[in-house]
Amino acid sequence: MARIGKDIPTAVSYLTQGDLVAIPTETVYGLAANAYDEAAVVKIFEAKNRPAFDPLIVHTHSVQELEKIAREVPDVAYKLAERFMPGPLTLILPKSEQVPLLVTSGHDSVGIRIPNHPLTLDLLKQLPFPLAAPSANPFGYVSPTTAQHVQDQLDQRIPYILDGGASNIGIESTIIRVIGDEVEVLRLGGLALEELEELVQISRANIKTSSSNPAAPGMLSSHYNPGKKVFLGHVAQNLERIEDKSRVGIISLQQQFSAIPAHHQIQLSETGDLSEAARNLFSALRRLDTPTVDIILAERMPEHGLGLAINDRLQRASFQGEE
Ligand code: TXA
Ligand code: MG
Repeated sequence: MARIGKDIPTAVSYLTQGDLVAIPTETVYGLAANAYDEAAVVKIFEAKNRPAFDPLIVHTHSVQELEKIAREVPDVAYKLAERFMPGPLTLILPKSEQVPLLVTSGHDSVGIRIPNHPLTLDLLKQLPFPLAAPSANPFGYVSPTTAQHVQDQLDQRIPYILDGGASNIGIESTIIRVIGDEVEVLRLGGLALEELEELVQISRANIKTSSSNPAAPGMLSSHYNPGKKVFLGHVAQNLERIEDKSRVGIISLQQQFSAIPAHHQIQLSETGDLSEAARNLFSALRRLDTPTVDIILAERMPEHGLGLAINDRLQRASFQGEE
């Protein structure tokens, strides 16, 4: 049984002895272990049923630490790190020798992130090692944004969940690969492309987030499966084609649908704010994963700000994918 608490010394003690602890971050909750302890890292893959080909992100507390985890930090990476770390950005860099190949799934590169959450930053500062941590959900399911979400699914598999409240971004980090002075976007996420573009040039060719041939191995189209069939598109049109509307769930940005019971529809943001929508997305998918719902109709978000990352997750959650 996992205990839930806010006690950093307890988390330090479990992690130091090679056990797992779920940690809060501003994006989603992570399932953490000592990144330099292979026996501890193996437990992450086991607890999540995660295939060994899917590499983990290494979490640390300061830009200075990047040089210990990466063997090379190009200027562009520094520029990005100084501006956006701590924050919802993961940089893929050449790995240092200290990082076990188990963490990177055999790749010569490692994903590094500084989470912007006070409890977890405090924890990381008290540890003499960084933390390898994927999202704290069973492989293929929706990521958790509260301690309760983690407990609902991993309760028997981990000893401790550090409770830092609801994640205030609510969608995973944006993943950027830096090669020399070029950058590639491997996963759309909590850092909007518009913000990145203030520092680096990003063209369509630099966005490699296709789910059929993912550059980030965890970005398979079967991800974010909420346990129900999801159809992404025009909700009103899709709804017309369904005769029995009593078992339909709806996720929209703002629109309400009178033909659907109120508890089966979720508006992600009353004011149409895409950051608020991102914050609510994964809870919404979980809430509609209920026995009285058979299918979920989801609305495509406007394609700016975090709308792009929300559409990416909904597409991966959706029945056929759309790519
Ligand atoms: O916001 C986040 O990034 C959260 C929090 C907990 O930090 N973490 C997260 O981890 O989403 P995870 O494991 O669910 O997704 C990380 C993805 C992997 O699936 C993989 O696609 C990509 O990051 N990744 C990690 N290391 C990589 C590498 N060396 N090369 C390419 N992709 C990598
Ligand atoms: Mg994940």
